[in-house]
Amino acid sequence: MQIGSIGVVGAGTMGNGIAQVSAVAGLSVTLTDVTQSQLDRAMQTITGSLERLVKKEKMSEDNKNAALGRITTSTDLGAIGSSDLILEAATENLALKLELFGKLDAAAKADAIIASNTSSISITKLAAATKRAERVVGMHFFNPVPVMQLVELIRGLQTSDETYESVEAIAKAVGKSPVQVRNSPGFVVNRMLCPMINEAIFALGEGLATAQEIDDAMRLGCNHPIGPLALCDLIGLDVQLAVMQVLFEGFKDPKYRPAPLLVEMVEAGYLGRKTRKGFYNY
Ligand code: 3HC
Repeated sequence: MQIGSIGVVGAGTMGNGIAQVSAVAGLSVTLTDVTQSQLDRAMQTITGSLERLVKKEKMSEDNKNAALGRITTSTDLGAIGSSDLILEAATENLALKLELFGKLDAAAKADAIIASNTSSISITKLAAATKRAERVVGMHFFNPVPVMQLVELIRGLQTSDETYESVEAIAKAVGKSPVQVRNSPGFVVNRMLCPMINEAIFALGEGLATAQEIDDAMRLGCNHPIGPLALCDLIGLDVQLAVMQVLFEGFKDPKYRPAPLLVEMVEAGYLGRKTRKGFYNY
């Protein structure tokens, strides 16, 4: 299937980034969210991000304006009705996503593909909430989307070859390098990355070192671009916790238990950069 239009559902950090790279690649984008204020913030972020590229002479003013012109926003989920590909990037919550997938299935045109940017929830389970399970797939982007090259393409048990091939082509068209992954808790990257971050939070909670020292150790000792706690602030502590819970429940293995300090910080509303407070202040 030739994909020329994309409906992005959820205008948070990931939805913004996906809308941006899709519009830059020439797709017509419909970005939806429940509130207009969230959509306005998203458009501000995308505009700011493209303006930085213009300033660095990586993009012309005309191309920036053309990309912005390809994005329309709506608080009505029905607006995605004519999109070839629907990309769900809502909050990482199973009950919410299952309900949303039922609604997307009803709103999307019959031959549209529905993809989820979930960081850990079963694509097989999400597909089963629709009447088009063979046209449901995972497209897991990485934060910050405009910078990170990878997209994990997750095949649920029901995903057809044709669906897979269509999203593989579109992932390449938006400038990403896709990797094919079988559906399994945490897929590939988060299965390894999130337990490492979790361990850093255990180390912090046990008083092994300060947050800065833990991060410096991993940056300077392992050449990581940023330390695990700074990365957790970037990902969002709520997302990190959601992934650990999926790993813990999915594998029933205590090695994946979320660090108590992570749970408590999420309870406090310290979610990282997006709330200006996490392991660091912003
Ligand atoms: N949007 C657009 N561009 C951005 C950006 C953003 N949000 N953040 C940084 N950039 C660009 C900068 O403009 C700069 O571009 P340039 O080289 O052309 O000047 C480049 O990225 C480097 O940025 P900075 O110099 O400001 O800072 P850093 O060198 O520290 O790089 C980083 C920032 C790229 C975010 C780097 O710290 C990094 O690679 N961090 C690790 C990110 C990572 O691991 N992400 C995966 C998270 S896991 C995930 O998303 C999965 C989820 O399911 C949990």
